Amino acid sequence: MVRREENKIEPFKKLVSLLSDGAFHSGSTLGETLGLTRSAIWKIIQQFPAWDIPIESVTGKGYRIPNGLSLLDKNKIQPYLSAPLLIEIYDSLPSTNDYLMGQLSSLEPRCCLAERQTQGKGRRGRHWISPFARNIYLSLLWHFPQDLSELSSVSLITSIGIVRVLHSLGISEGLGLKWPNDVLWNYKKLAGALIELSGEAHQSSSAVIGVGLNVNMPAIPGQKITQSWTDLSKITGQPLLNRNQIAGLLLNEILQNLKLFQDKGFSPFIDTWQSLDFTFGKSVSIITPTQILKGIGRGINDKGYILLELETGEIKPFSSGEISVCL
Ligand code: BTN
Repeated sequence: MVRREENKIEPFKKLVSLLSDGAFHSGSTLGETLGLTRSAIWKIIQQFPAWDIPIESVTGKGYRIPNGLSLLDKNKIQPYLSAPLLIEIYDSLPSTNDYLMGQLSSLEPRCCLAERQTQGKGRRGRHWISPFARNIYLSLLWHFPQDLSELSSVSLITSIGIVRVLHSLGISEGLGLKWPNDVLWNYKKLAGALIELSGEAHQSSSAVIGVGLNVNMPAIPGQKITQSWTDLSKITGQPLLNRNQIAGLLLNEILQNLKLFQDKGFSPFIDTWQSLDFTFGKSVSIITPTQILKGIGRGINDKGYILLELETGEIKPFSSGEISVCL
């Protein structure tokens, strides 16, 4: 079904690709290149707003996508990986996590990226806004020898991986983590991880590790993000960032972290988490399905559970819940 959708949008995709350089292209040149009439080109261009693709049309010059787009290409992602990985890229999927949850029987690790998601999922049932070719939406399927009960820290090691990649891209100031999966820049959400697990008790297990990273999020009319957020373009001042490089670095780093976690458990990551923990020593609230409690962030334990010093003085671990920092 997904492949059929890809075929249907083939001329659309080719046109987006030609215009992705950000330069003006006349309707007739585009038509010649694609073997279409100028009016067919015009008709395809009319679909751009529905995909949230900005387009400028200037008489005598033609069409252009201001600032261009960095389109995903697996041949440009693979060189960043230390070992070959099965990578699939789709123009549009409901959710890359859902797609890989349908591939759990696949024995090898594999990865899926989408240019856009129509039903992108955030934690706690939230919607993850996923406009075309702007951000990174990727999921990775990984099989663990460990039992499900040992995997509660996978979201933490994923978030650590995201931060390490951002450091390697030169973003050092202002980055931090909010348990269990939020990557923040000056308290604004920049990225998040959504881990979906599958397995039986006392058996090996599988995880789909989803990562959403805001690279250049446009303002989308009618779409309101409830949380304060930012993106890499705002942080770096660069309108066009290389999404293939970012995706490749993320995959490589997360894969390394998964291998280390599989061999040595969570302990090699604890110090890094503590050094990035935005909530350490701060007044926070935790919302669990049954209660809201106030406390002071006291880091994490060796399972990756958050430790809160409650008003009674007791330091209590929590394995799940939503943390908000009292600023
Ligand atoms: C969060 O912070 O709430 C988690 C966000 C995770 C979003 C990513 S985008 C790729 C993958 N597919 C999804 O549907 N969600 C995750």
